[in-house]
Amino acid sequence: MLDALPAVGVPADQVLDEMKALRRGDLPTHGGRLFAYVYDPAIPGLDTLAVTAYALSAHVNGLDPLAFPSLLATENALVAAAARVLGAGPGTSAPEVVGSVTSGGTESLILAVKAARDSRPEIERPRLVVPVTAHAAFAKAAHYLDVELDLVPVDADFRADPTAMAAAIGPDTVLVACSAPSYAHGVVDPVAEIAAAAAERGVRCHVDACFGGWVLPYLKRLGAALPDFDFSVAGVTSISVDLHKYAYCPKGVSVLLHRDADLRRPQYFAFADWPGYTMINPGISSTRSGGPVAAAYATLRHIGDEGYLRLASQTQEAVRGLAAAVTATDGLRLLAPANTTVVCMTSTDPGLDLFVLADALAAADWHTQPQLPFGEMPTSIHLTVTAAVLPKVAEFAVALTAAANAARAIGPVTLPPDLVAMTAALTPDQLTPELVAGIASTFGLGEESSEPPRMAMVNALLAVAPARLREQLLVEFVSLLQRPSFT
Ligand SMILES: Cc1ncc(COP(=O)(O)O)c(C=O)c1O
Repeated sequence: MLDALPAVGVPADQVLDEMKALRRGDLPTHGGRLFAYVYDPAIPGLDTLAVTAYALSAHVNGLDPLAFPSLLATENALVAAAARVLGAGPGTSAPEVVGSVTSGGTESLILAVKAARDSRPEIERPRLVVPVTAHAAFAKAAHYLDVELDLVPVDADFRADPTAMAAAIGPDTVLVACSAPSYAHGVVDPVAEIAAAAAERGVRCHVDACFGGWVLPYLKRLGAALPDFDFSVAGVTSISVDLHKYAYCPKGVSVLLHRDADLRRPQYFAFADWPGYTMINPGISSTRSGGPVAAAYATLRHIGDEGYLRLASQTQEAVRGLAAAVTATDGLRLLAPANTTVVCMTSTDPGLDLFVLADALAAADWHTQPQLPFGEMPTSIHLTVTAAVLPKVAEFAVALTAAANAARAIGPVTLPPDLVAMTAALTPDQLTPELVAGIASTFGLGEESSEPPRMAMVNALLAVAPARLREQLLVEFVSLLQRPSFT
């Protein structure tokens, strides 16, 4: 148990040593062995620069842009850089572009939905149209903002279907959104057709480029045949891009761009009716640290445009190598074309269980992301590929073959039939914390161990649980984990 408030303070060196020991239990953020959550450009010295810049501004407060002009200036520079990367700014078809720095992709998407909702106060029950492949943050935005979510099926290639998207637009639609690319499969939606359909109906169109917005333009410069998705596309009214993803900045920075200031205006929250300072916030937080912004500014300035082009080229080469490794492995195939920064594989062999494969890879210190089946989409394994992966491709290819053989030898997960029956019969409201604790301990979850947890059984169980039940199961489980560690 950790003690965050000892009776007597602990010397700085000791605190740091303790924390370093703690961090050793985490998945590796650097080195190209973790294919989700983290983005590593493998540039020597970059981390030191970023954390030094972070420390310089850690106590700066974004509450008031006048009090800390350094923050305002660096934010404006980040917005300008993002606009340039995404086809906006002077000399483009979106010269009036404006934007805000947010804490991450989810906040950017919530704010895009808020701006759209509040731009149409006459609509009583506002609606948001997205393809089913859109990031879950849209569902969260809809939930928080009391906007109805219209989920539109995608085509067989996991691309949003522009005809179906257009048909879903109704009189109460305040926003249509699509992805460039989608997280699960790395597929770029047909943005031009969708934006045109939205514009024709006078509806805003948001492009969620949180994931790939900083790398797709560079991939296009390298010759990748990808659809246009930025402000050069007529009808695109806003775009989000996360700097803590392919701009390789420390966590906590995304940019939300609007084609002009009128479109952004309803994004702000202002309140003067209380005895304190008038609150004017572009984002969800009021007080927010200048640290992430400073770190992002330092990162962009150090890497530069030419550096991002090089990183995109390395990433592209790594993607090609990993895709070839998947194709060359018996029993595996690519689920979607690997033409962005995602490699998504599925199994062609009933004897090769992807959940078992993911565990076998984890045991060899390769950390991938299993994706549960969804509608017609089969179970898959997702790899988010970053520049740091390139030198590891050959090693991964060997590990993948070995893990596939090991998984085949182990065989597919078979869940106890009574557990399957119970899961099928359970309704979310029947899930008590005790029941979930019992299930978790059956699988050895949440217990301290030096071994990576064997997740195959858990994933297999989650895969048979209906979505609402799965949500509730995981809420209860996470709630069990998130308990104060009283000493
Ligand atoms: C396409 C897309 N949109 C939005 C998000 C949400 O970003 P964040 O986790 O920074 O809130 C992600 C995260 O992976 C994403 O891939």
